[in-house]
Amino acid sequence: MASQELKHRLETTIENIPDFPIPGIQFKDISPIFLNPKLYEEVIEDLVKFSKGKVDSVCGIESRGYLFGIAIAVALEVPFILIRKAGKLPPPVVSEKYDLEYGSAEIETREGHIKKGQRILIHDDLLATGGTTEAAAKLVEKQGAEVVQFSFLTALKDLKGEEKLKKFNAEIYYILE
Ligand code: PRP
Ligand code: MG
Repeated sequence: MASQELKHRLETTIENIPDFPIPGIQFKDISPIFLNPKLYEEVIEDLVKFSKGKVDSVCGIESRGYLFGIAIAVALEVPFILIRKAGKLPPPVVSEKYDLEYGSAEIETREGHIKKGQRILIHDDLLATGGTTEAAAKLVEKQGAEVVQFSFLTALKDLKGEEKLKKFNAEIYYILE
């Protein structure tokens, strides 16, 4: 969907840092995007085009999912819901635990922010193993809403995170495949 030109600019702006935060992992640093407001605007426009008319709310995953998610929701004129790491939101909250390579993690939303029957976009900057996004989708579904779309700037395709998302039968979009 994105033009080749936008893809190229994004690809050359996101920095690939090998062996960070641990050896063997390549870190994608999206922060240079925010040095270029025009590029940021075009990234948002592209993500908005994917979701226009298709969703009732946008859920963004802490923290990098907020950087684009809020702008997407505002442009779509729909609510934005924060999915936070556990312990940051005041009660009442709804939680979902998930496994990490070592140990486990937990994410939460405020109770009542997701409404039953809503069509939800889950947005994050990056899909890696898919563990975080899968847990976010479960968190949405257990509140009676439907995940209809996932969007990301990019993915670490070798980690096959998309396999974990197939069961939700939602559209999946990356600006950079
Ligand atoms: C990164 C990235 C995604 C997640 C993807 O976030 O922004 O949210 O990892 O990983 P997964 O597909 O293997 O679950 P991180 O947890 O580093 O936190 P941050 O967004 O707060 O920087
Ligand atoms: Mg993140």
